[in-house]
Amino acid sequence: MGIAALNPSYGLDCLHMPIHSPWRTDFPGILALAAEGQTYLDSAATAQKPQAMLDALLGYYAGGAANVHRAQHLPGERATRAFEATRAKAARWLNAPAAEQLIFTRSATEAFNLLAYGLEQRFQPGDEIVISALEHHANLLPWQQLALRRQLKLVVLPLDHSGLINLDQAAQLITPRTRLLAISQLSNVLGSWQPLAPLLTLARAQGALSVVDGAQGVVHGRPDVQALDCDFYVCSSHKLYGPDGVGLLYGRNDALQQLAPWQFGGEMLLHTDYASATFRPAPLGFEAGTPPIAAVIALGAAIDYLGSLDASAVSAHEATLHAELLSGLQQRRGVRVLGSPNVALASFVVEGVHHADLAHLLSEQGIAVRAGHHCAMPLLQGLGLSGAVRVSLGVYNDGDDLQRFFNALDQALELLQ
Ligand SMILES: Cc1ncc(COP(=O)(O)O)c(C=O)c1O
Repeated sequence: MGIAALNPSYGLDCLHMPIHSPWRTDFPGILALAAEGQTYLDSAATAQKPQAMLDALLGYYAGGAANVHRAQHLPGERATRAFEATRAKAARWLNAPAAEQLIFTRSATEAFNLLAYGLEQRFQPGDEIVISALEHHANLLPWQQLALRRQLKLVVLPLDHSGLINLDQAAQLITPRTRLLAISQLSNVLGSWQPLAPLLTLARAQGALSVVDGAQGVVHGRPDVQALDCDFYVCSSHKLYGPDGVGLLYGRNDALQQLAPWQFGGEMLLHTDYASATFRPAPLGFEAGTPPIAAVIALGAAIDYLGSLDASAVSAHEATLHAELLSGLQQRRGVRVLGSPNVALASFVVEGVHHADLAHLLSEQGIAVRAGHHCAMPLLQGLGLSGAVRVSLGVYNDGDDLQRFFNALDQALELLQ
């Protein structure tokens, strides 16, 4: 028996207009999940993949795998060319001045760890690292642990009532003692674009390095690292419709020169004997060992795919879906949306209902959303919450997905409220 049959009023509660995604059929994963009765609304955790990217992933292996940067044979040269082509594509995607300013890591998380270890010797006891109250654990723990190792102070910028980093307080807290500012472009919990420009200006005025966590932001708009004028920008492939296992770290040339190598092994060195070694500059000096070759090549295909879409049509589609999501949530009794989300996602709590119970009942109805602390435990604690439910959208989602979500939500709330 379908949900509509269980409660005939659901048929009346339809979206304002049909919302169609012209890109849905490009994503076999979303179609496979739909065939299983699953509605995927967790793209902020990881996105489904376009066929073009899957073809590139398989194509690298099926066409003859080879290691990069070390072989003179044809398969090795071909793999190296394809691998380096992704670096150039990603650099163009981020508007980095040169491909050499992009380091491939295994994830965004690894990029933050690279920075924390690579910059470690630049800090003196008493120096301050400034983050914000909404950071993902990936942009919190590497700095927290660095602060503990080097006796630094971790300063946390508070948020205003709408969930944005409070600029007045930031102006007080970013001081000559600040050596580094590390902040998110788009919160993975609150879905709000953060006021990066004034924050980066404050950091620059104090001579501090800046790190921008673009893990969510990179997906919803073409980031321009030159316009941002940050020292480092971090993001990961799997949220950008690419494969998992690849992260990207952009650095300004002078900032990259401040990094010491942090992982040691093959291909990252110029010369070694038993007593000592000299290392390559970025990017290869920070890519020790065999990199995730197939995944990097496939990321290139994902970027090509995204580049082939009409960017304004994608933004309009995302905005329409997001507006429907927010308005549907706001109409429901007891539902409170956290912060003021601008794009792509909404986290919410329901009065008197535990987020885990709600997520469980949604999952039983084939709705895949995320529930919990969203790897931002201190933020949730600060909001007085143990967790929240998050719905997040990709280009392939459509109005029917939202309708199924709202039907399931109503059904679940009827049981729980
Ligand atoms: C804002 C933000 N930063 C960093 C990360 C970490 O990314 P990854 O898991 O790819 O290392 C995530 C992942 O959810 C995120 O949402």
